[in-house]
Amino acid sequence: MREAILILDFGGQYTQLIARRIRELGTYSEILPYNSSWEVIREHDPSGIILSGGPQSVFAEDAPHPDPQIYDFPGPILGICYGMQLLARHFGGTVVPSPEREYGRAQIETMGSSPLFEALPLQLEVWMSHGDRIESLPPGFTGIARSDAALGAMASSDRKIYGVQFHPEVAHTPQGQKILGNFLFNVCQCRGDWTMASFTKSAIAQITSQVGSSRAICGLSGGVDSTVAAILVSQAIGERLTCIFVDNGLLRKDEFKGVLSTFRETLDLNVVGVDASQGFLDLLAGVKDPEEKRKIIGREFIRVFEIEAKKQDQTEFLVQGTLYPDVIESVSVKGPSAVIKSHHNVGGLPEDMHLLLVEPLRELFKDEVRAVGRELKIPEDLINRQPFPGPGLAVRIIGEVTPPRLKDLREADQIVEQEIKSAGLYTQIWQSFAILLPIKTVGVMGDGRTYEDVIAIRAVHSLDGMTADWVPLPYDLLGHISNRIVNEVHGVNRVVYDVSSKPPSTIEWE
Ligand code: XMP
Repeated sequence: MREAILILDFGGQYTQLIARRIRELGTYSEILPYNSSWEVIREHDPSGIILSGGPQSVFAEDAPHPDPQIYDFPGPILGICYGMQLLARHFGGTVVPSPEREYGRAQIETMGSSPLFEALPLQLEVWMSHGDRIESLPPGFTGIARSDAALGAMASSDRKIYGVQFHPEVAHTPQGQKILGNFLFNVCQCRGDWTMASFTKSAIAQITSQVGSSRAICGLSGGVDSTVAAILVSQAIGERLTCIFVDNGLLRKDEFKGVLSTFRETLDLNVVGVDASQGFLDLLAGVKDPEEKRKIIGREFIRVFEIEAKKQDQTEFLVQGTLYPDVIESVSVKGPSAVIKSHHNVGGLPEDMHLLLVEPLRELFKDEVRAVGRELKIPEDLINRQPFPGPGLAVRIIGEVTPPRLKDLREADQIVEQEIKSAGLYTQIWQSFAILLPIKTVGVMGDGRTYEDVIAIRAVHSLDGMTADWVPLPYDLLGHISNRIVNEVHGVNRVVYDVSSKPPSTIEWE
């Protein structure tokens, strides 16, 4: 039986991080919305429950509360920040609004000998972020740590219920991982045997039983998610998986040929390569509006994919590389993020295809998918590929997409990739790429005046694409990229660097 820690999400900005930290400790963890019913929670048979932090005050009229039956859960509970205040209030303590918000680094001093702080120094540096504080403990609870301003942590003496006022999951709490480990191994008695190797084995077994003797199809994008999903399924059902890789004419330089040969020769996948590029480019001719471009590409992709899929007899299953953040986004209390991302799913296929979904990566974060990829011996350069949007270079050519503009952007994009790679930065950056702008500017080359295109360079750090920071690339690297582009890409006489973060900008320019 797989052990699992359940995290109830009260909307805190670090909730996903809690889940990742617990998984890093070798215990599977899942996030559920804060108001999940007790029946749903019980079905997961958790080894422990964590109540996350959240932006609300327990005094707010619309303060989120869990199903009260969770307070009778016989196993361990850990409340973090807002979660701790919920516990304190429920069990009869007093929580008061603090005149000052405690935010940022703080020191706590542990008291007594709690299993939560086993083998840790008395003084701990922690990250705090709270307004309310606990003034008096609920009956049957003792304080196990304090800060200057507030109670730092509490524990019930007869039940395994703990609360911490700080955030053990963030890097600013240096001993945080040890504290979470103590909760898992000392309090919940977890074994910590969830590894990517064990995940891979059980995922293959599960796909084998789900698909049985039927056939499945999988759309490949050349990215890591669909590749890992396809390899897992092919290890389960072998030749009964047919992969479809569509050239929409918007891929990077030499990508279609290169990726196709890796899929077939190195990864031994059964892949149909479909060159549909002319159809896509014909439909895009004259179109400048970004949303219109996306719609055209999305519709055409579905059309092409359907034609290919129909050629595969007796196919009942469709493999998709859906990841855990997409799954949580669709259930979380933080609704709007789901809306922002919905337009990204260009590969969404019509329901009338009547295919059942196989989504072997539904439980994984991106870095875990990469780890599974390594288990499956997928080449490193494929595993480490930066994300590439479904509508491809069309979102990086501002204005009309034409073959000559695609050619120029491909050349510039290749230079950026080569230079970022040779500077050793490629795998440290979420995405780095070139954009072709819809304006021409004056330049001078040799003795003559030029009037040519502008290329913008974008490089961002991000964890999941939802927010991003621009990367301060070294000036000499930027200078070198600029020189190469202006010299090697015919028709470009100027290169600019994008220094905007997301929000307020987006990663792609469209
Ligand atoms: P934005 O531009 O919205 O992009 O900040 C966030 C992340 O999503 C990627 N992206 C896409 N990925 N299909 C995809 O699979 C799409 O239609 C799509 N549009 C944007 C983008 O590259 C960035 O990583």
